[in-house]
Amino acid sequence: MSSIAIVGAGHVGVVYAAGLAELGHHVRVIDVNAKRVAMLRTGKIWFYEPGLPELLERGLARRRITFTTNYPKGLAKARFVFVCVPTPTTAEGSLDDTYLRSAFAQIREHATNPRPVIVNKSTVPVGTGDIASRLFEGDDIHVVSNPEFLAEGRAVEDFFHPSRIVIGSRNRIAGEAVAALYAPLRAPVVHTDPVTAEFSKLSANAFLATKVSFANVLSRIGESVGADGDGLAKALSLDPRIGAGHLRAGLGFGGSCLPKDLAAIEQLARRFTESPGFFAAVAAVNKAQRSRVVDLLVDRFGALADRRIAVLGATFKANTDDLRDSPALYLARQLAELHAEVVVYDPVAAPQLKLIAPELQLARTALAAARGADATIVATEWPEFATIDLAAVRRTMRGTLLVDGRGLFDLESAHRAGLDYFSFATAGVRPHEAEELLPAVAS
Ligand code: NAD
Ligand code: UGA
Repeated sequence: MSSIAIVGAGHVGVVYAAGLAELGHHVRVIDVNAKRVAMLRTGKIWFYEPGLPELLERGLARRRITFTTNYPKGLAKARFVFVCVPTPTTAEGSLDDTYLRSAFAQIREHATNPRPVIVNKSTVPVGTGDIASRLFEGDDIHVVSNPEFLAEGRAVEDFFHPSRIVIGSRNRIAGEAVAALYAPLRAPVVHTDPVTAEFSKLSANAFLATKVSFANVLSRIGESVGADGDGLAKALSLDPRIGAGHLRAGLGFGGSCLPKDLAAIEQLARRFTESPGFFAAVAAVNKAQRSRVVDLLVDRFGALADRRIAVLGATFKANTDDLRDSPALYLARQLAELHAEVVVYDPVAAPQLKLIAPELQLARTALAAARGADATIVATEWPEFATIDLAAVRRTMRGTLLVDGRGLFDLESAHRAGLDYFSFATAGVRPHEAEELLPAVAS
């Protein structure tokens, strides 16, 4: 078992700390944020990720994980240093490597003997691995690009059952040493060079974003020609070349990754291809989806001042408290800017909402949010919304409009409850549903 340092105690870093500890390694996590470190030492995680608190607790109880703000302490004896720092978007849309550079500089200054292998998990500008390797040249430190593909909300599951491990290294021994850490997970491993590894990460997210915008354009055409969105998603998803994931139409994609990685790949397309605008079109479709609900409400009500609107869900998707670039929060804010009285209910994000969106009223339950509302909007696909009693929603509302931005309901059940129903969203098909459909097709 190895001694491993992790730089960055966030959505990737804490999952890796707890996951690697579960595999038997000893992990020291370094973060510059003293408040987060203090919380994590007591087993409290500063963000919501299902299953992670229990896993972290086990690692702490077995004394396999420590947290520190001190680089020399954190790096002492580390054989591997996993870098998991943020790479936000710059004003032009590229990936900002400021935190990464700072982490590399600290590692260079404080790395001890024997020299560690640096495992870069942050999503980086293409070429970063080679630049970092040159930085560490002569220090006997190798840099391996090992992009991360976990999704928030199911990050623990993704850690233990990754679809693939991509290892980009120009040094065979370093690359194989990193691959060996993942051996217990029995995942397919792709050995390649750092540039390809880094580009594969941007490409994967660009593809997922493109698929969501593709689904949104199809659903829009489908609305006009009278095609059923769910039927369409099923028909498409059973073709293994298309696949079931990311075909849900609705409010569009958000979060800290798809939008920023899409912008970064568009920058590359502009520089190096005759097709600038390909990924910009994907982003434009996404932006248009976000405005559709506002347009609908303005069409229906005219001015929104004095209208009370309930927004169910604020996070960028279900099972996370992440509000970064959230379509739901964007929508709520747009409505508030138009002077609507906006009441938001989110199952987990209320504490952060209080801090970053004080202009929004918060409710403690979905029904409380809907009380007295002229319209109720489902903006995040939280499972608890799918089982809500629509008749009770109708009874507590002042108006009758239900806008389903995530395809949780259908026209018939909304009408039965006495609600006017509008949805441009489809539930799509989840991979397990596609698997269930396959035998039926074969027989
Ligand atoms: P995050 O914001 O959740 O956490 C990053 C942590 O790094 C923060 O706690 C911050 O305080 C700390 N940090 C910043 N600079 C530091 C420094 N110099 N030294 C030590 N700590 C520092 O970020 P995240 O969501 O975990 O993302 C990290 C990287 O992984 C990004 O490049 C992201 O694109 C990529 N990624 C994220 C996900 C995801 O689901 N969030 C999935 C795959 C890849
Ligand atoms: C995404 C990728 O799925 C991960 O593989 C990747 O590692 C991660 O980005 C990253 O690089 O950080 P994540 O942002 O957690 O993960 O969320 P997704 O599940 O991909 O959803 C992204 C957005 O697309 C959400 O707003 C979601 O509501 C939306 N979406 C997703 C749809 O609108 N329709 C769909 O069918 C699927």
